[in-house]
Amino acid sequence: MHENATPDPATTTIDRAAAAAADGPPALRFPFDATALTETPLTTERLVLRPLEASDAPDVFEYQRIPDVLKYLPWPLRDRAEAYEHTAKRAAARVLADDGDFFVLAMTLPGTPSVDDSGADPSAGVARDRVIGDMMVRVSSAKHAQLELGWVVHPDFQGKGYAREAAVAIRDFAFETLHPHRIQAFLDARNEASAGLCERLGMRREATILEEQYNDGEWQDTALYGVLRREWAAARG
Ligand SMILES: CC(C)(COP(=O)(O)OP(=O)(O)OC[C@H]1O[C@@H](n2cnc3c(N)ncnc32)[C@H](O)[C@@H]1OP(=O)(O)O)[C@@H](O)C(=O)NCCC(=O)NCCS
Repeated sequence: MHENATPDPATTTIDRAAAAAADGPPALRFPFDATALTETPLTTERLVLRPLEASDAPDVFEYQRIPDVLKYLPWPLRDRAEAYEHTAKRAAARVLADDGDFFVLAMTLPGTPSVDDSGADPSAGVARDRVIGDMMVRVSSAKHAQLELGWVVHPDFQGKGYAREAAVAIRDFAFETLHPHRIQAFLDARNEASAGLCERLGMRREATILEEQYNDGEWQDTALYGVLRREWAAARG
């Protein structure tokens, strides 16, 4: 082969097939109940990540009511009552066992009080920490050990690395604890902030699905990002 030639796809495929075979069959550690993370939340440098609760609805509404936040999310604009009901439903989803199951972790920022002080304990002088965004883990395929991540952060807290911090923690937790073969994310191809986050997570753009959704009066492409378990493990050393 010429020195500068494109690698032979057949050889590349054989190398990957060997690596994939060495990974063994799907081995998801299911069922998993995210309620366990209430007692032992995930912590990052600046955040505490614990299961979303229905009582987080006032904080979630602060970002869910902003049309710009919803632009690339499959969420309609909801009024307060609808949004609170939506948060209650998402908070109740905790157990991963079958395709489509999901749980949501609230990104709480210690030291920043919730917009709702009704849950505060005045005697302790401690306000409830604000939920600045949330992250979802969903089962794309239990049979094939494929998980999906999704995310949203209040605009006041974007561009500060909080999304990356939380998503790295959830990606690592998912690979370590749930043992998927691959983690993926689907995004509106116009969503540059989300694409940047995928890349910061070591995910590769694997496909552009043409005209998959009709939004904003036009057919929109969907970008698919993914990372294999062995790539994640190799990147960690
Ligand atoms: C997608 C989304 C979660 C990304 O959030 P984000 O705030 O852009 O992501 P990060 O927290 O990783 O912030 C990244 C930026 O903060 C900067 N930053 C500032 N301080 C930082 C710090 N201490 N650490 C790391 N990054 C920092 C980074 O340089 C980076 O900027 P860059 O992209 O120009 O390099 C957010 O845009 C969002 O909620 N959008 C609306 C909902 C949505 O579309 N969800 C996705 C549907 S698929």
